[in-house]
Amino acid sequence: MSLIQVTNLTFAYDGSYENIFENASFQIDTNWRLGFTGRNGRGKTTFLNLLLGKYEYQGSISASVSFSYFPYHVADKTIFTIDVVEEIYPEYQYWQLVREMNALQLNEEVLYRSFETLSNGEQTKLMLAVLFLKENNFLLIDEPTNHLDIQGREIVSQYLNSKKGYILVSHDRAFLDGSVDHILSINKASIDVCRGNFSTWYENKLRQDAFEQAKNEKLKQEVQRLEETAREKAVWSDRVEATKIGFGPCDRGYIGHKAAKMMARSKAIEKRQQAAIEEKSQLLKNIERIDALKILQTPFHSKRLVTLRDVTICYDKEPICEGITFEIQQGDRIALQGANGSGKSSIIKLICGEDIPYTGEMRIGNGLSISYVSQDTSELRGKLTDFARDSGIDESLFLALLAKLDVPKRQMEKDMSSLSAGQKKKVLLARSICQPTHLHIWDEPMNYIDVISRMQIEELLLQFKPTILFVEHDKVFCDNIATKVVQL
Ligand SMILES: Nc1ncnc2c1ncn2[C@@H]1O[C@H](COP(=O)(O)OP(=O)(O)OP(=O)(O)O)[C@@H](O)[C@H]1O
Ligand SMILES: [Mg+2]
Repeated sequence: MSLIQVTNLTFAYDGSYENIFENASFQIDTNWRLGFTGRNGRGKTTFLNLLLGKYEYQGSISASVSFSYFPYHVADKTIFTIDVVEEIYPEYQYWQLVREMNALQLNEEVLYRSFETLSNGEQTKLMLAVLFLKENNFLLIDEPTNHLDIQGREIVSQYLNSKKGYILVSHDRAFLDGSVDHILSINKASIDVCRGNFSTWYENKLRQDAFEQAKNEKLKQEVQRLEETAREKAVWSDRVEATKIGFGPCDRGYIGHKAAKMMARSKAIEKRQQAAIEEKSQLLKNIERIDALKILQTPFHSKRLVTLRDVTICYDKEPICEGITFEIQQGDRIALQGANGSGKSSIIKLICGEDIPYTGEMRIGNGLSISYVSQDTSELRGKLTDFARDSGIDESLFLALLAKLDVPKRQMEKDMSSLSAGQKKKVLLARSICQPTHLHIWDEPMNYIDVISRMQIEELLLQFKPTILFVEHDKVFCDNIATKVVQL
């Protein structure tokens, strides 16, 4: 066992005024399977890059292991997979590589294909297999699930469970639960390490939040009560003071004594009040705001929006999916499920009106409008305000939605290309949410989205019940949302 010790870490990106980390201190054991959680843009990827020594920072990070990062960037994807392995880890042993690949249910034959022909899921598994071969190495795994189907996630999760010595960033609740034994969380005002999986951490957080809220309420009442007592005392003491002046028989010594006693008491009240206010200010700092969202959807004139009967999609000669039959009716929330490469995105694009070659029957309701969220965010650049204008949506509504999804106001001025991965996806989701339309079609909407926003969006869909067709591999999301499942 050895430790990774972070002491007084402070970091800001060049040209940015805000610190991503400020005097952060914590330690991690290199034997842990550590889940890393926190809302989008809090600095998870940045922290991994700091461990890799990519940027300069203040404070210190000490470790006796070396670090590797997933996803490994493959510059030339046309080369054979085996050559990619060689590039990542020249000292690899072939038999060990095959053993790891077996554990990930990845066929040896992929080694002798050009890397670009591997599906995203296969590329993910291969990289993990190679990276885990490295010795005295602590792996920094940044969101491996985004291209994995549900079965792939299960396999990778079991695989990770058999290893140790890594940090895993993921927003997939079931996946984290299956893979980690500790959680590192970047909260609103602190960074914490705790034992257990994601669910344990989340339950603790809810309990802590509830405790703080109750305590806050109590302190608020206490402050109020002390204020009232202080006011009453002041009035009273004024009255007593007044009796000192004037005529008539009275014991001035006694009154003076009483006034002094009262003064001491009111000092004590003031002190107690101050202490309560201070204690109160330490509370609630880590409570995440979970604002409710609203979605605009126009009812369609007919009950049936889309009908597919016996549809087959064929790019070259090979059909990628065959005999697909289903119907989208008003109010449906349909999960389109299937393994990587089973044609989900193609079906979606076909319904959205792209030129996809197919046979069979497809009927789209007359005048049906669709709002589409693509899987990919890499095209996003430029200002958010221009993006809103070009998309023909209400800018203030759009920015308000982003704020509710926890994108800080000061970051909305930035160029979209320097937003974090999840913030970019939120841009696409927010646009779709404020587009008045008949049907929402979302392709892997939860990729990169933090857990709290996943819950916000689940809540939104359950409350407003828009008609939606989606592809999503987050099991919890699908279980919560889908009213129908179409299996490819
Ligand atoms: N190259 C960069 N230049 C300037 N700011 C950046 C850069 N990369 C990231 N940021 C900002 O730094 C903050 C942290 O980003 P980072 O990518 O580390 O977040 P994250 O926690 O990994 O988020 P996500 O969950 O969305 O992946 C964000 O506010 C982001 O906008
Ligand atoms: Mg990130």
